[in-house]
Amino acid sequence: MSDNPYSTAVLAWYETNARDLPWRRPEASAWSILVSEIMLQQTPVVRVLPAWEAWMERWPTPAHLAKEPSGEAVRMWNRLGYPRRALRLHACAVAITEEHDGEVPDDHATLLSLPGIGAYTAAAVASFAHGQRHAILDTNVRRVLARTETGIEYPPKTQTKAETALAEALLPPTASVAARWGVAVMELGALVCTARSPRCADCPIAGQCAWKLAGKPAYDGPPRRG
Ligand code: ADE
Repeated sequence: MSDNPYSTAVLAWYETNARDLPWRRPEASAWSILVSEIMLQQTPVVRVLPAWEAWMERWPTPAHLAKEPSGEAVRMWNRLGYPRRALRLHACAVAITEEHDGEVPDDHATLLSLPGIGAYTAAAVASFAHGQRHAILDTNVRRVLARTETGIEYPPKTQTKAETALAEALLPPTASVAARWGVAVMELGALVCTARSPRCADCPIAGQCAWKLAGKPAYDGPPRRG
């Protein structure tokens, strides 16, 4: 399909408004991107930043981590919370080292077969690290699409097939543009289309947002956080 109506506006917004995060820089390795995605699953960016820097300094490749006992990973995880993620990352490093010659796989199905890697993380790594065309649907993206496309304030609690189909339909055709689009929508959700008090005045696609055009009807379902 051709570019969706707002990808150009969102991509232009991203160019000037995105945060400069180290795992988004061109030199970031696939391993460092995988580590960032696992850390960012349940922890805010500001707390992930120092932990990610320390982790990458100590274990710049999966092989460095795989050599250590898993308890070291948990110790290093420190105060990020949900320490089971450290064990999963360690198991992942061992699998990559032993079964993939130490290289983070680049295809979605192989990524998905790694311990602790779910559909979102596999798509994020394939897209952000390897420039492939995959729909990225995290909490922020789901909220942006719920508002702009469906006209509701919050997406359903559990991701639906309709959301996946919508995200795939909106994906720009060129892989490199699609990869940038994924992170750009994510950033729009994190910085502008926030769960509470969205900053619609600063939104590059407010004029095409179904929820805004409907007068921003309040969500009337069960209590939601995001
Ligand atoms: N940039 C790339 N992936 C991200 C994520 N999961 N959260 C915030 N920023 C990101």
